[in-house]
Amino acid sequence: MLLEGKVAIVTGGSRGIGRAISEDLAKNGAKIVVNYNSNADAANETVAAINALGSEAIAVQADVSDFDQAQALGKAAIEAYGQVDILVNNAGTTKDTLLMTMKEAQWDDVMDINLKSAFNMTKAVARPMIRKKNGGRIINISSVSGLIGLPGQSNYSASKAGMIGFSKALAKELGGRAITVNCIAPGFIPTDLTSVLDEDRVKWITESTPLGRMGKPEEIAHAVTFLASDHAAFITGETLRVDGGIAM
Ligand SMILES: NC(=O)c1ccc[n+]([C@@H]2O[C@H](COP(=O)([O-])OP(=O)(O)OC[C@H]3O[C@@H](n4cnc5c(N)ncnc54)[C@H](O)[C@@H]3O)[C@@H](O)[C@H]2O)c1
Repeated sequence: MLLEGKVAIVTGGSRGIGRAISEDLAKNGAKIVVNYNSNADAANETVAAINALGSEAIAVQADVSDFDQAQALGKAAIEAYGQVDILVNNAGTTKDTLLMTMKEAQWDDVMDINLKSAFNMTKAVARPMIRKKNGGRIINISSVSGLIGLPGQSNYSASKAGMIGFSKALAKELGGRAITVNCIAPGFIPTDLTSVLDEDRVKWITESTPLGRMGKPEEIAHAVTFLASDHAAFITGETLRVDGGIAM
């Protein structure tokens, strides 16, 4: 068990990539705080799936774009399990449109949900991690869109590139405490988020991806488990593409 005795918070952990991450960390021995924003049924289902694997989990509602709710989520995790060893900032959204038609609210929502949430949650867990003196792992789910930029996603690309800069700065601030901060940049994965892509876009994606297909949520989850484990103890400030090669 790579993560025996560890406690992880996974934001937006009830569906899609977040659910796969919650389950994979649990399979490897971690106790999971499954954060959700609005769908309690999906979160409870994920908790039940984790329990069926023989691991512990709780579901905690919080809009992580809201500073106070994020602090409450961190507190709930510590109340339940006494510590937080792993934070996965996975919650995210898209509001795709060309800059010419982008509304201010579409910019603000994406920045708040994708980027400010990572600040909010890191503020919630960094101090308890430092006090525990047991190191820690912060893993931010960025995107290939933040590396190469994609048209129609100026808000999303900016938020995901922002996560990478944020992670590097933090890796330098927290390295002395044995807390690593890394990003994963997924390529295209079929989830609710990408269900809006039309046939032409999916064709472009598979043709532009050297491995010739979209990825699976579990393939992102395995990379998270690796970065969360002792095997990755000397990796920090890194962005790992898990993208079938599309952004190389
Ligand atoms: N699917 C892809 O192709 C892809 C590619 C690159 C990066 N990503 C990133 O992976 C992450 C997971 O996305 P997904 O594809 O599983 O999509 P998804 O829409 O299924 O999952 C997003 C999750 O975030 C949660 N969430 C949204 N706003 C929230 C808030 N304010 N507070 C708490 N939770 C909130 C949602 O409820 C949901 O559980 C996102 O950060 C996304 O940007 C996805």
